Amino acid sequence: MSLPVSLYYASHDGHTRRIAARFAARLREAGCAVAVTDLADRQPDAAEVTAAGVVAVIAAIRYGHHLPPARRMVTAHRARLAGKPLAVISVNLTARKPEKRTLQSSVYLRKWMARAGLSPAVAAAVAGRLDYPRYGWFDRLMIRLIMTLTKGPTDPSRTIEFTDWDQVDGLAAEIARLAGADGA
Ligand SMILES: Cc1cc2nc3c(=O)[nH]c(=O)nc-3n(C[C@H](O)[C@H](O)[C@H](O)COP(=O)(O)O)c2cc1C
Repeated sequence: MSLPVSLYYASHDGHTRRIAARFAARLREAGCAVAVTDLADRQPDAAEVTAAGVVAVIAAIRYGHHLPPARRMVTAHRARLAGKPLAVISVNLTARKPEKRTLQSSVYLRKWMARAGLSPAVAAAVAGRLDYPRYGWFDRLMIRLIMTLTKGPTDPSRTIEFTDWDQVDGLAAEIARLAGADGA
């Protein structure tokens, strides 16, 4: 019997929700029981986190910080999370560069985990989605500025999904192994 996986995510524009759904689908294929929670809808209480098997937190970044519902959850439960098989996945645009996808090379992820005092068994950054037409004028301006500085696309009419779904599937397999799933 494998440990159940409690998957918590925080998404602003919906892409991290899609990534969380992909994780859930792959974990179920591997034989894991998975419960998925949108942290903007509901924060888990102490009893829920204590009873969880594997915990996976998947959070998007805006303006240098993981979304507040994810930070709130990790801060509230850090002592409980420290004793769990834990996976933390950061979704951001910096990770469109493959060399920025590890705990050590993702400054956002490294700082967040250092602040929380956590060393997740699985930790990675996954590239998100750039959706200029969707953004308001200020966000579009800021993202174009960041893209100019980091040599990314600046055409404001474009939508680009940078997510490497093979990377996501590989991380799902790592989490399934953490849960001790037969199909992992
Ligand atoms: C207003 C805004 C600010 C962002 N700030 C950052 C950032 O500081 N660093 C980064 O790597 N990506 C940044 N991103 C990219 C998002 O993390 C990426 O688009 C992600 O896919 C968003 O996920 P979501 O659709 O679940 O909200 C930003 C995106 C937006 C719209």
